[in-house]
Amino acid sequence: MNSICKAIKISDNVYWVGAVDWAVREFHGYQTPRGTTYNAYLIMAEKITLVDAVKSSFKDELLSRISSVVDPRKIDYIISNHAEMDHSGCLPEIIEIIKPEKVFASIMGQKALESHFGIGAMVTPVKNGENLSLGDMNISFIETRMLHWPDSMFSYLKEEQILFSQDAFGMHLAVDKIFDDQNNWEILEEETEKYFANILMPYSTQILKLLESFSAMHLPVKIVATDHGPLWRSNIAKILNLYKEWAEHKPLARAIIVYDTMWNSTAIMARAISEGLMESGVEFKVMPMSSSNRSDVATEVLKSSAIIVGSPTLNNNVFPTMADVLTYIKGLRPTNMIGASFGSYGWSGESVAILNDYLKSMNLEVVGDSVKAKYVPTEADLKLCFDLGKLVGTTLKGKIKQ
Ligand code: FEO
Repeated sequence: MNSICKAIKISDNVYWVGAVDWAVREFHGYQTPRGTTYNAYLIMAEKITLVDAVKSSFKDELLSRISSVVDPRKIDYIISNHAEMDHSGCLPEIIEIIKPEKVFASIMGQKALESHFGIGAMVTPVKNGENLSLGDMNISFIETRMLHWPDSMFSYLKEEQILFSQDAFGMHLAVDKIFDDQNNWEILEEETEKYFANILMPYSTQILKLLESFSAMHLPVKIVATDHGPLWRSNIAKILNLYKEWAEHKPLARAIIVYDTMWNSTAIMARAISEGLMESGVEFKVMPMSSSNRSDVATEVLKSSAIIVGSPTLNNNVFPTMADVLTYIKGLRPTNMIGASFGSYGWSGESVAILNDYLKSMNLEVVGDSVKAKYVPTEADLKLCFDLGKLVGTTLKGKIKQ
């Protein structure tokens, strides 16, 4: 264990003792070009408490930061708000070193920690609304099931008004400054939106319910201490509002065209469709999968209400990049969207039907007639593409007026 890494004080009795991962660029399929942090917190109450841990490879960084405040073996309690391994990976080793009096997790958290590490017997399960006395301070637990795992929960430290929110409100962003107001807002918003799109979008209904019930609790919150990226202290209301907006995903006058191409025919069609969208007056973005990543497409889906997908037919199927991105987007369960499709082919021409199957399996309303072009699109094909783009744009505008 090194002694280089120091804790950062975030309130009178609470320290950030997490780890900064400047190198990570891929997070279970999610591209993280700006790295991330694994946040953990040390509460210096009468019962010294560690909230969450870090990825196993960052165990020494965690221990070093804790040691800059207190001997880790003096920690009495560990709270595990979320069992995913970026926050629990080092827990078995940490428990072995610290030998805490108790480890707390939600009921599902206990099961998840048992399944991952066989340490369920060491865990005391806590229920939604339950309070835990730390002697001179108090923690209450708020179950946030399926945000984004069954075990997920928040912990609220009453005396310092800190909400430990695990993944919720977080972002993948490695930083040298721990608070939101010490960082660039545009980057924070961009990365939080990307995080929401890629991790939380499927659970939008639960998020809306949680925001409502959390607001009804009237808990004063000075700091939202997430498990990834900077902590919120100056923009808490703003981020809660953005979460509500993203989770509602109301109709927007914005579309995306997502396509790949073999010999440029599908690309030419995409451009004709974009001209139609432009004519209709809606905003749009064109995302060729040869130079786009699925996690950026997810963010654009969150900002849009139409997805127009294009693929050539390759070996009686769609292009592999299109199967990849559509499988990923389907899993994120976007709502309130319409779809359309197009593609080129040489002889069998299955791609468009397969694209439509993807769109329908996502419960999207498919608008217009799909456009298929044999080998190279003709002028007539491009006119159909233009009209399809225009139809998607006008349909979106009509939905906004409703
Ligand atoms: Fe950051 Fe769901 O783990």
